[in-house]
Amino acid sequence: MADPGPASFSTRANALLRKNLTYQKRNLWSNVRLIMIPFYLCIFLVLIQLLFDTKVNNSADNRCGCDLVDTNGDGIREKVCGIQYSSADQGFFCSIPSPPLWPPLLQIPRPESRDVRDLNDDSCRRTGTCPVTILFTGNNRSLGGTVSGNLLTTSIPANSSDLLRALANNVLGTTAEPDFTNYLDTGIASNLSIYSIQPRCILNASLPFSFGQPPLNFTKELRCVQGLNLWRNISREVNDDIFKGYRKGNPEGKINEIAAAYDLLNTDRNNFNVHIWYNSTYKEDGGSRLIKLVRVPRSVNLVSNAYLQFLLGPGTKMLFEYAKEMPKPETSLRLDIASLIGPLFFTWVILLLFPVILSSLVYEKQQHLRIIMKMHGLGDGPYWMISYAYFLTISVLYVICLMIFGSAIGLKFFRLNDYSIQFAFYFIYVNLQIALAFLVSSLFTKVKTATVAAYIYVFGSGLLGIFLLSFLIEDSSFPRGWIIVMELFPGFSIYRGLYEFAQFAFRGNLRGQDGMKWKDFSDSAMDEVFYIIIVEWFLALIAAYYIDKISSSGKDPLFFLQNPFKKSPLRRPSLQRQGSKVSVEMEKPDVTQEREKVEKLMLQSSLSHAIVCDDLKKVYPGRDGNPPKLAVRGLSLAVPSGECFGMLGPNGAGKTSFINMMTGLLKPTSGTALVQGLDICNDMERVYTSMGVCPQHDLLWETLTGREHLLFYGRLKNLKGSDLDQAVEESLKGVNLFHGGVADKPAGKYSGGMKRRLSVAISLIGNPKVVYMDEPSTGLDPASRKNLWTVIKRAKQNTAIILTTHSMEEAEFLCDRLGIFVDGGLQCIGNPKELKGRYGGSYVLTMTTSSEHEQKVEKLIQDVSPNAKKIYHIAGTQKFELPKEEVRISEVFQAVEKAKSNFTVFAWGLADTTLEDVFIKVARTGQAFNVFS
Ligand SMILES: *[C@@H]1O[C@H](CO)[C@@H](O)[C@H](O)[C@H]1NC(C)=O
Ligand SMILES: *[C@@H]1O[C@H](CO)[C@@H](O)[C@H](O)[C@H]1NC(C)=O
Ligand SMILES: *[C@@H]1O[C@H](CO)[C@@H](O)[C@H](O)[C@H]1NC(C)=O
Ligand SMILES: *[C@@H]1O[C@H](CO)[C@@H](O)[C@H](O)[C@H]1NC(C)=O
Repeated sequence: MADPGPASFSTRANALLRKNLTYQKRNLWSNVRLIMIPFYLCIFLVLIQLLFDTKVNNSADNRCGCDLVDTNGDGIREKVCGIQYSSADQGFFCSIPSPPLWPPLLQIPRPESRDVRDLNDDSCRRTGTCPVTILFTGNNRSLGGTVSGNLLTTSIPANSSDLLRALANNVLGTTAEPDFTNYLDTGIASNLSIYSIQPRCILNASLPFSFGQPPLNFTKELRCVQGLNLWRNISREVNDDIFKGYRKGNPEGKINEIAAAYDLLNTDRNNFNVHIWYNSTYKEDGGSRLIKLVRVPRSVNLVSNAYLQFLLGPGTKMLFEYAKEMPKPETSLRLDIASLIGPLFFTWVILLLFPVILSSLVYEKQQHLRIIMKMHGLGDGPYWMISYAYFLTISVLYVICLMIFGSAIGLKFFRLNDYSIQFAFYFIYVNLQIALAFLVSSLFTKVKTATVAAYIYVFGSGLLGIFLLSFLIEDSSFPRGWIIVMELFPGFSIYRGLYEFAQFAFRGNLRGQDGMKWKDFSDSAMDEVFYIIIVEWFLALIAAYYIDKISSSGKDPLFFLQNPFKKSPLRRPSLQRQGSKVSVEMEKPDVTQEREKVEKLMLQSSLSHAIVCDDLKKVYPGRDGNPPKLAVRGLSLAVPSGECFGMLGPNGAGKTSFINMMTGLLKPTSGTALVQGLDICNDMERVYTSMGVCPQHDLLWETLTGREHLLFYGRLKNLKGSDLDQAVEESLKGVNLFHGGVADKPAGKYSGGMKRRLSVAISLIGNPKVVYMDEPSTGLDPASRKNLWTVIKRAKQNTAIILTTHSMEEAEFLCDRLGIFVDGGLQCIGNPKELKGRYGGSYVLTMTTSSEHEQKVEKLIQDVSPNAKKIYHIAGTQKFELPKEEVRISEVFQAVEKAKSNFTVFAWGLADTTLEDVFIKVARTGQAFNVFS
């Protein structure tokens, strides 16, 4: 197959996109569940609204009252609605084509709380006959006296046709609390009496009168109450009187309320200036923002009338006959409760994508999938772009689903606001959200912690939004600047935007208008939210890019300040020899020879060797008072293409550190390596395009199948079309995953051995020039292992393979050369035969007896070969090394026969040296050597 060369940006992007799509297809059900959440919440909101509609909006209290009335006297009662059948609350909603006329009333205190301070006698409180106090002050007392004297006038009205005009000569007062409108005056409609305020009550009997006009007729009784005009020298005294009479304002806790107070100021014949005190306690009704009427007009009219009489004589009158509201159609209560609680729900809905994106990013990081993709040539550029585009598409689809569904189900929140503003808002927000997820993903290494933290953020933002932020927004005394500061928190900026939509929808619905339009954009807080989100998005992207750059490349945090043209100093062999001198001297000749070969190769810079490691070192800095650990101490190695180099060594010898350096996971402390002539310290991105890795732990997507894995990595290696299919098929067959539909099962369902084989297949797909395999055959049954070996052997032809293993059989079978790696350094290097020859030179006798005969066995061996060495001993089994020149095999057999006649020998064997023996020997000497070094 022709070498297709490194994959282009678009090829790699395409590979990742296809993999992601397949991945999502596997996760179809969790995606559907995710999409269903907005649906459920919308339905829930609609149900709440329905409940609210039946209980509140459409309840009898919030509609014009109706009754069954026999309208045309034929005995059939029909349902008729109107203000006459309504309670005071219901009347609010009735259609009133011709509003009734009401006499203007003055608000007076209730009998039991009227001011009695000037009476020296509060017995009137018991009989309910206390006078109503009206206070006067001004610059000219004599003028004040005249005006106040003109204030209260009386003329007992006769039964005239024009009752209102007749009543206008009287000062009428009520103790009834006013309402929001005056379609039905509470003073008349309630069963409280109407007072006629007179300078002196001559006749205290009450008079019945009929008010109103059909259909609203009320028969009221008119009761007399005395009006007491009192003079105060200065307005401060008026204030003082009112203050002390107000509720518990005076020390005795007595209530002494006055009806009205006037300050005539500098009024004279040419000026009329007056201040009026009135009681507005009832104006606001609890939490509702509706404002009640205040009975001030009559008060203004009274004082004006009194002044006019002072000016022009008692005959002059300025009558205030009636007050009348404007006609109005029938209305209904339309409180859109769904809009009010909507922001909480929709904040949750939109933020819910955050944990999804975050956990997906952290999953790839936690499982090291990101790095393994990178090792197979997927650069950062395509990774970020495709991931971004991909999450953006999902988010946008999600938001569109939300908007369509919300509108379809009838939520005013979506229907009334302009769709383009809504979409623009959601669009910029999901962008910010993705950038934030990228940024935040660098803080987490575990999916679980990331998910938990993200959900706390989601629910916390919503709840804090509705209970704290919206509360502060509505509190007009809270500084706006601080609100903006709070909105810098992304959870609050989304809440604020949704809150604005909700307010516009709520008001629009109440008034039967539309919600937010682009022209309202800057009147609402929407503009500031937009700017905050856009700026934050931009900053988050830069920060995410920057953090990813330093964390993935281990660069200096200020890397962008460095001069890009300055190359890092060339690591030439001669510069670095001093440090390793000691070990050079103590090195075995084969290792030294390899080092010299590397030095020569480094000078030639030829491409004859695919891998050239030049004095590679890794030192882990000391922690908690421990000395620094030397994981790899100056490794020099050259592996030509077509060779499989086996790396043996006990656990913890530094093999994995070495592989990690070669694959770019770790930075070498010093030294470097050239892969295909490219320096791993500077050109890792390019090295990756021709590299394959089979890591020690399988790095696979649980939900993708084996075939999908291979397709993905094959595409990354620039395989296309039929070449790709063929390569994948061959590769599956090679690792025995082709038959029985195994290839199309998700990798999560594979056994350990199958995952292992898949990992090997992945590392070999696309004919990489260099392959690293970290214990490729662990956990495989013998048959699969044989199979795998054939695959590796075949792949070896034009590839340099570095393989670590604990299986001597594997090393012997696969590797052209072996290096035994002990304590961070190569102890020996050579092909298996050479090593056996060099370290062998002896037979190995193994004998198993019961443990009490061990001494005898040892003695016996001493007799046969005086220089024999015990190399292994455990529970009666002993191994001896017998130098070949000392022993003849026949002697050994005789000795064993003799032993058998003396005691029971369970088993025994004589073997030529195996690789295992070489390994044990080398490992032991290496460790011993290092103890002293
Ligand atoms: C007070 O008002 C009376 C009556 O109008 C007037 O005669 C008198 O001059 C005024 N006194 C002052 C000090 O202005
Ligand atoms: C007004 O007329 C009604 C009956 O039409 C009568 O009951 C009432 O006493 C009269 N009031 C006066 C003040 O004459
Ligand atoms: C008000 O002023 C008059 C004279 O100007 C004075 O006699 C009277 O004591 C004052 N009243 C009070 C309550 O100060
Ligand atoms: C205003 O009216 C309310 C209700 O009657 C009463 O409680 C309050 O004390 C009055 N305020 C003053 C200053 O009289």
